[in-house]
Amino acid sequence: MPVARVADVPPGTAKAFVVADREIAVFNADGAFYALDNTCPHQGGPLAEGWIEGATVTCPWHAWCFKLADGKMTLGDYATVETFDVRVEGETVCVSRTPRPA
Ligand code: FES
Repeated sequence: MPVARVADVPPGTAKAFVVADREIAVFNADGAFYALDNTCPHQGGPLAEGWIEGATVTCPWHAWCFKLADGKMTLGDYATVETFDVRVEGETVCVSRTPRPA
């Protein structure tokens, strides 16, 4: 479903949107869009407010780091954030209502 305009999420930034009653963080990593659950699996930090470096995000609360492509922690298989399919249609960013299968 459409959640934002491309211009709403400039490269190197992220923004949270409510999609089907869930808060989803949409990331623009140098022009590539990703969507993850906005809630960090550690203690609930808002991932859209994290630091983006390449195709990873670091949680702003305690610095757990996740890969944007699959939601897995960069340090190992300790925790995973759910990911959602994203596509850009013209100037609109669309996000799936349901997470990708684990
Ligand atoms: S809440 Fe994200 S690292 Fe602790």
